[in-house]
Amino acid sequence: MRLSGKVALISGGASGIGAATARLFAAEGASVVIGDIQAAKGEALARSIGEAAAYVALDVTSDAAWADAVAAAVRRFGRLTTVVNSAGISVPGSIEDETLEGFRRTQAINLDGTFLGCKHAVAALKGGRGGAIVNVGSTLGQKAGAIFTAYCASKGGVKMLTQAVALHCAEQGYDIRVNGILPGAIHTEMVEGYVAAGEAQGASREQVLAGFASAHPMKRLGRPEEPAGAIAFLASDAASFTTGAMLPVDGGMLS
Ligand SMILES: NC(=O)c1ccc[n+]([C@@H]2O[C@H](COP(=O)([O-])OP(=O)(O)OC[C@H]3O[C@@H](n4cnc5c(N)ncnc54)[C@H](O)[C@@H]3O)[C@@H](O)[C@H]2O)c1
Repeated sequence: MRLSGKVALISGGASGIGAATARLFAAEGASVVIGDIQAAKGEALARSIGEAAAYVALDVTSDAAWADAVAAAVRRFGRLTTVVNSAGISVPGSIEDETLEGFRRTQAINLDGTFLGCKHAVAALKGGRGGAIVNVGSTLGQKAGAIFTAYCASKGGVKMLTQAVALHCAEQGYDIRVNGILPGAIHTEMVEGYVAAGEAQGASREQVLAGFASAHPMKRLGRPEEPAGAIAFLASDAASFTTGAMLPVDGGMLS
């Protein structure tokens, strides 16, 4: 029960890494608020976890929606200690294929959404003890891929944003640690989107998944529970002297 007493708001909590994080946090003793635009999935997940979980509608690109989600978490569980920014999208496009509209949409969700999550989290947590923010970056925020222009730009931004917010909180003497993770390819709906795109271009499902697996020295994709485990560690008091860190969860890819 490493997270006993914590109350966490998890953006993108209805699916993939966010959903695995919600389940693990609840199993470790936390109360969780699943913030997502997918109401049916978010509500079903909250029901399956039970009393310790609630769903709240949250579009991470909206300042007002973040204010409402934080207020809902405090209303339901009495306080907020932890924010996990996991909402994100990944749409491939080289610099020649990507449009300004597509580029901006990716920044709006992945980077603006994480900025707003951090901003509301700092405001809500700064009077408390043991606050933690965990942002979900990507190996593609550190090691670029030619077909991921917008995604790389957004996740590079998430890395530096995380570190700037961590320094601010430390310098101000707030008891808020701010860290992130850098997942490699994790088998979620996001990867399934690439499988569908590959199949549409004539590749088999096995070929697409093997391509992802081969990018990791451990020769496999990650499971959602694996980044969730790293997020739980960074959110827990076991990481009490860790702030500004971006922890790879990548089967060795960045080594
Ligand atoms: N799966 C991977 O291989 C991988 C690798 C590196 C990083 N990541 C990152 O992990 C995070 C989670 O991705 P995932 O793999 O779990 O994907 P996923 O598609 O399973 O989950 C993403 C969730 O974000 C939600 N979301 C999208 N736009 C939103 C918005 N505007 N407001 C609120 N919620 C929104 C979706 O509804 C969904 O529930 C993302 O930030 C992603 O970039 C994923």
